[in-house]
Amino acid sequence: MRNKTEFWHAARQAVLHVGSRPDRKPAKSPFRQQFAKAIVGRTPFIRLEVTPPDEAAPFSFALANDARLKWRNVKLGRLPLQLSAYRAQGAVTVVEFALPSTAQCWGLGERYGGLDQRSRVHTLITTDDHSHQESSDALYKSIPVLYLMDGAQSHALFVDSPAPQRWDLDSRLDERGSVEIFTRRGVSIYLLGPAPLPQLVAAYTLLTGRTPLPPRFSLGHQQSRWSYPDESTIRAIATEFRNRRIPCDAVVADIDYMEDYRAFTISRERFPKFEGMISDLGAQGFKLIPIVDPGILKSRRDATYVAGTHKDVFCRTVQGDPFVGKVWPGKCCFPDFVREDVREFWGERLRFLFDKGVGGIWNDMNEPALFGQQRPFDPSKQQLPKASDQMFLQTAPEGTVGHLEVRGLYGMQMARAAFEAQLAARPDQRVFTLTRSTYAGGQRYGAVWLGDNKSWFEHLRLSIPMLMNVGLCGFAQSGVDIGGFGENADGELLIRWYQTGIFYPFFRNHCAMGQRPQEPWAFGPKVERAIRKLIRARYRLTRYVERLFVEHRESGAPLMRPLAWHYPDDSHAWHVSDQFLFGEDLLVAPILNRAQRERMVYLPEGCWEPFDGGAVIPGPTQIVVRWGFDEVPAFVRHGAILPLLPAFEHMGQLEQRTILLKCYGQNASGRLWLDDGESLAYQRGEYDDWQIQLRSGRLSLDPRHLGYAKRPKRVLIEAAGQQTSISLSDLATTTARRR
Ligand code: GLC
Repeated sequence: MRNKTEFWHAARQAVLHVGSRPDRKPAKSPFRQQFAKAIVGRTPFIRLEVTPPDEAAPFSFALANDARLKWRNVKLGRLPLQLSAYRAQGAVTVVEFALPSTAQCWGLGERYGGLDQRSRVHTLITTDDHSHQESSDALYKSIPVLYLMDGAQSHALFVDSPAPQRWDLDSRLDERGSVEIFTRRGVSIYLLGPAPLPQLVAAYTLLTGRTPLPPRFSLGHQQSRWSYPDESTIRAIATEFRNRRIPCDAVVADIDYMEDYRAFTISRERFPKFEGMISDLGAQGFKLIPIVDPGILKSRRDATYVAGTHKDVFCRTVQGDPFVGKVWPGKCCFPDFVREDVREFWGERLRFLFDKGVGGIWNDMNEPALFGQQRPFDPSKQQLPKASDQMFLQTAPEGTVGHLEVRGLYGMQMARAAFEAQLAARPDQRVFTLTRSTYAGGQRYGAVWLGDNKSWFEHLRLSIPMLMNVGLCGFAQSGVDIGGFGENADGELLIRWYQTGIFYPFFRNHCAMGQRPQEPWAFGPKVERAIRKLIRARYRLTRYVERLFVEHRESGAPLMRPLAWHYPDDSHAWHVSDQFLFGEDLLVAPILNRAQRERMVYLPEGCWEPFDGGAVIPGPTQIVVRWGFDEVPAFVRHGAILPLLPAFEHMGQLEQRTILLKCYGQNASGRLWLDDGESLAYQRGEYDDWQIQLRSGRLSLDPRHLGYAKRPKRVLIEAAGQQTSISLSDLATTTARRR
């Protein structure tokens, strides 16, 4: 099927295909099924709603408010991919689809493993698995969108239900896939395509939203540790960064800043001048990012518990008592974030921290994690337990439901509460929130990291495909703990991790209690020198990183992209998961094994130049590359113009740094996005967007949009080894006059 007319023709011809597999007779189901279709851009969408009798489809928290797709109800039969849906017994909806042997399964959120999720069974339920390894299944996030990559027949399948799901991606090797959705609420299933990958991601992120432009500081390096125990340690860490001239923009305060780990308290014993510390850090160019956990100590001496009880914000058991589970502070109650009034209540509590000047909020333990109750759902079960056996009840928009029905939303709605509260507290500022748990659409509420990894080369290696998959699911600002959270790092691992990590959209070093310190200077001067140089390279690329976030806003494109994103006709590119493209212009191919000094690198079509300089290599080719400890393990695409900056130490210094537009090759093009990096003024047109072209040695800068009053007066251009300075302000004035 080549075009959409053919696609719809085939879809219309087909006959409704409910439970037609001869070996599986579905029980008669009272549930309704309804099809609708829409076309967005060039991407066809089909929506299948499976709903309880006489009820509308359940309210979706995944859909973006601005996803105004025009749906038309249609009678459809066999769908592309031979998708079929039927009700099995009780509270399970089953969707089956063909998985041709040529198809790869990308996406599906945060999964432990490579890019291709095929031939495994995956349970999607938010789970705190702090010692995950190869046999692990469910992790912190539930993001049920899968990209079935099969050349021109590529599709995306999005199963919009925050209840537990089991995805079998051809585990029986019979070229079939299935999704079982364990819910009584009903579910909406979206089938997107056929379309190329960038179009599928554009369409999916139109439906579920995109990550807003993050504040500039959050693109910089963040230093964290569980825990810097007191004020003087945090101050010393910040000073150490500045003394050693290692760039850094934020220090993170883990649970020890609180009194007895209780949310919205400060331990005055250990942080006597918390507010003063934040302003002193601010003067040094650092933000402070505190952690916030959802569990509220069930104690009359806890102000949040008292206020929360008064406002009835906590989830209740079927007997009507507030549910109690154990986390860091002790026996805790858990706000029901699915309720809007509870998110508002949480937002009011967060003011406590915003008023103290924190730079953003780190939301943790929000699967929700409970000590001793790590597995809320037994994946071998064929049924959803009764609502009374689902730990506690929650209030969905349509009424009271068992917790598991909406479990996927817990972390997402907590992050949303933090996001919206920060926006309300600082209405014209960009928001930084970080969350561990989330659901489809959670990208609208900021950044994610992939939870408790280990200081293992294996976790460094896997961070690449895992983050690529999370990116394909719409989450633009994502990263993993650099250096590894659990276990002990060493100098070599830390260097190799920074060589990859300088290209994580969210760029943070974090480490667990009891582990060997892993700040950039922890392993002696040689390691420190290498890491300083690497972090500086990330800062030199800040203007490029900003542009990539703008691209994400425009098209949903992730920052870390599989090679096939830009080289879909290159059959080799489809099988590379230990390299990635950082935007279109940089190909990153780091060393991912201990004691390795060189590696095979695949360079697709085009010419490639090492980021740190060196001979140009024509692709497609496979070469052996040696990466020294302080080298940036990346190649620049010829045809690119990169906006580079001289070294600096925090984002507050960026505006004073002269931009160098470095042209790679004879003919090149690039884009320069300029705005204040902090406010929402860009939404009112206060930005510059320059198109830059180099054609046979002639350079042109052409503004697509002019609106940034503080644009730098001059920029430097480097082409064929020659640097010239160009006056941006003159160019802007002439263009404005001409218009
Ligand atoms: C969880 C988080 C980790 C944090 C720790 C203590 O394990 O994933 O990042 O440091 O809790 O708050």
